[in-house]
Amino acid sequence: MAFEIVATGRVAPARRISNDELAKTLDTSDEWIRSHTGIGNRHIADEQTATSDLAFAAAQEALQMLIDHDKSLGGSLEAAAQSLDAIIIATASPDYFGFPSTACLVQDRLGANKAAAMDVVAGCTGFIYGVETAAGLLSIRQDRKRALVIGAEILSKITDWKDRSTCVLFGDGAGAVVIDKTEAPVSGPGKRGLLRSILGADGSGGEHLIMRRGGTRNPYKQGETLDQPPHIEMNGRAVYNFAVKAVTDTMEQLLQEEGLSVNDLAWIVPHQANARIVQAAAKRLNIPEEKFFLNIEEYANTSAASVPIALDEMNRSGKLKKGDLIITLGFGAGLTYGGNLIVW
Ligand code: ACO
Repeated sequence: MAFEIVATGRVAPARRISNDELAKTLDTSDEWIRSHTGIGNRHIADEQTATSDLAFAAAQEALQMLIDHDKSLGGSLEAAAQSLDAIIIATASPDYFGFPSTACLVQDRLGANKAAAMDVVAGCTGFIYGVETAAGLLSIRQDRKRALVIGAEILSKITDWKDRSTCVLFGDGAGAVVIDKTEAPVSGPGKRGLLRSILGADGSGGEHLIMRRGGTRNPYKQGETLDQPPHIEMNGRAVYNFAVKAVTDTMEQLLQEEGLSVNDLAWIVPHQANARIVQAAAKRLNIPEEKFFLNIEEYANTSAASVPIALDEMNRSGKLKKGDLIITLGFGAGLTYGGNLIVW
């Protein structure tokens, strides 16, 4: 039994904000942002758009590709949606606090009436967790065959736009993949799909990346005047150090468990948080930086959406070829970390 990614999709809001544009209203500069993060632009959703809108659009892109792949769907988007057994959305910026889940909103809009639907909350590692969760759901019942995993975020609405140490880092977007349960081999020659994942967490670091207000620990009180909406607070240096270690340890462990070496990899697709994290990891692992796919210049950090956005960009541009061995890597709020080893 194999779990293969058979279709991908992505979307980013049309509004694109460059570093220079940000610097008009914030004490920062294109030079600082580029040299400290590798970020050049970010896409920002308008006021009317919510996370499920981006998730839905990315899902449609992926289902459109699925129709080309699976001829039994007769070219029908409706049939593609109805063929889904599960929808998982990784997000830290859902439409609604708590419920309904963003996945349920998307399930309804797609008309995916036989799909189970739930959100996964694992910060920027959410998509990595989502892929493994999807494989688990598909494997445990014979009649479940197809899952849609989406990473979707509108971080711009939970960002403190006066805090230059965080607001320059984040962007909005969504990426989606369709995962099919197939009969392809998962070992030996011709092996395909998800080979193995590592998922981990160090909850003791939760304070380093936190939305402090609005939950049951620290609810808003009646009559309280909000000086700020709920927003991301981050200890950038602590997250940076955690991230470099998480990326290198996860890479090494995944390869070692599978008896592979870095030379076997076509691509490493890391969470796009900071190009310097990637550079530091590449140096530690003695891997050429070109092995890491980076599109942070265009999208900034889109949290759980960054890896599926990257996968779709690579897939559509022909960078990813059938049979390529790749590793996806994530790290972020929780603190969480993880990676998926996949034969494309
Ligand atoms: N423009 C100009 N100057 C700035 C800016 C800015 N946007 N932001 C900070 N500075 C200044 C600081 O005030 C400081 O000035 P000082 O020396 O006079 O005090 C100086 O730049 C250096 O600040 P540092 O915070 O030490 O900068 P650093 O080199 O550590 O980079 C950064 C900060 C980019 C945030 C880095 O720590 C980082 O990338 N951390 C990881 C963040 C991350 O990956 N988060 C991902 C998870 S997100 C999720 O899960 C939702």
